Amino acid sequence: MVKVLVSDKLSSEGVKILQDAGFEVDCKYKLSPQELKESIAEYQGIIIRSDTKLTKDVIEAASNLKVIARAGVGVDNVDIEAATKKGIIVMNAPGGNTISTCEQSFALMLSVARNIPFAHASLKSKQWERSKFKGAELYSKVLGIVGLGRIGKEVAKRALAFGMDVLVYDPFVSQDLAERIGVKLSDLENLLKTADFITVHTPLTPETKGLISDEEFSLMKPAVFVINCARGGIIDETALAKALKEKRIAGAALDVFSKEPPFDLDIMDLDSIVLTPHLGASTQEAQVNVAIEAAHCLKDALLGKAIRNAINYIQLDPETYKIVGPYFNLAEKMGLFMSQIIEGGIKELQISYLGEISSYKVDVLGAAFVKGILLNQLEKGINYINALEIAKARGIKIEQVKVQEEEEYVNSIRVKVITDKEQRLIEGTLFANKEARFVKIDNVYTEIEPSEYMLVIRNQDKPGVIGFLGTTLGKCSINIAGMSLGREASGDIALTIINLDSALSPEIIAQIKSNPNILSLQLVKL
Ligand code: NAD
Ligand code: MLT
Repeated sequence: MVKVLVSDKLSSEGVKILQDAGFEVDCKYKLSPQELKESIAEYQGIIIRSDTKLTKDVIEAASNLKVIARAGVGVDNVDIEAATKKGIIVMNAPGGNTISTCEQSFALMLSVARNIPFAHASLKSKQWERSKFKGAELYSKVLGIVGLGRIGKEVAKRALAFGMDVLVYDPFVSQDLAERIGVKLSDLENLLKTADFITVHTPLTPETKGLISDEEFSLMKPAVFVINCARGGIIDETALAKALKEKRIAGAALDVFSKEPPFDLDIMDLDSIVLTPHLGASTQEAQVNVAIEAAHCLKDALLGKAIRNAINYIQLDPETYKIVGPYFNLAEKMGLFMSQIIEGGIKELQISYLGEISSYKVDVLGAAFVKGILLNQLEKGINYINALEIAKARGIKIEQVKVQEEEEYVNSIRVKVITDKEQRLIEGTLFANKEARFVKIDNVYTEIEPSEYMLVIRNQDKPGVIGFLGTTLGKCSINIAGMSLGREASGDIALTIINLDSALSPEIIAQIKSNPNILSLQLVKL
């Protein structure tokens, strides 16, 4: 039975999805690094939030782990490189807490601009200090957004509704997108000099670490408020403490810290700073959303149905996924089929995508084919993530070509496999976008459904051969589930592919081979 570990508190809706999928689910929170390391080998899947640290050490001990799902956005608590090397898929749940975090950013912006926490504390201590807490309006002010991703965009929309002008610094965003949202793109320097409020919404990367530091604070207006609901360290906390102490800026609000909890950080003792303990995603709605999203992703990946939201695997947008997704299984089966009929070491794979699918990001299917063709060659886990890397390491040249014009089929994948002994070809398609068919093997057109047991026979195209095959298999109680016949161009050699309900014993194989009209026979198991 597939075992899944839920190692941080997850909404029950997520746990139920996993249990309903038939997985054995262990919810064990607050495991020490040692306990995690000792137990991780039991599991094929793990769902984490931000508390569990999946370090290199832990991942190396995870001998059966296939998928890590993060119920949330940031995966900075997972050693992605170690996971990728081990072929473990790392997924996140990026959409579920966007609104929650956007609203937290606004809550902090308003709190610090209107002195809400300080006024609240003052009133609770029985003071009535109205003039002390004069605030600032958002209306007609400039909001500088650093990072216009999911959360940044939602913040921009709400800021516009507040009557703010929005300036954005995000080098990866197009002018077109900015215009559609109604914001102006800017360089960082101009944003820092112009904005009355600055909010950061980038991931923490080597480029964004310390993005707002001493020099940046020195460019800001003295009345500016700075907000960080993204990741601790994007705004350098030492520089921030200095800017606040020297009153070079009006205030700041932080939900995230370079070290959490931030008890020994300087900023804890400052006035004019509003602090919350990483609450961006802490709403009922967001926690249910991320739990459901992460559980579905984990479930589908473990059941081999789909890979979504993977961090260490090529991402497909939903539109592409809809078109390309169904071809993963076909491509893998084509690879697995070829691995059992080719002779010699693989030197090169020439993969062509024909027809409509070629206008999508189909290269990912190459990894599926490679996984299939190398699966039986390798001792240990090859998967969609590491397949191309493994092929490269084995010196296999891979060429992927897109051919817009459809040929016999609206969409198909054609792969020429060049080994040190021969060149073979397979082409596959999906009928009605779901039913897999191999439609060409070498230079013979066929139409056969990939199935668990297949018999691939090259025979003289003479009367009686098909009858002989039927009788021989029938006598041995082997049921024929399907059959496809095709002829080589020369006309006298035929390719017969048979779907069987069960495997064949060596005796039956020998019996079939004894017929002089049977030139070759291969039993394929998919
Ligand atoms: P996202 O990936 O959708 O957007 C990130 C944006 O940052 C992208 O548009 C990208 O182009 C931009 N960016 C990347 N590098 C940049 C750079 N050097 N300069 C300027 N822009 C850059 O991410 P998201 O879902 O919007 O999340 C944003 C941040 O919020 C992440 O750090 C995430 O971990 C954090 N987050 C925090 C909480 C919380 O509880 N406080 C909750 C959810 C997300
Ligand atoms: C996230 O990355 O999703 C947030 O920081 C929220 C969380 O850690 O749960």
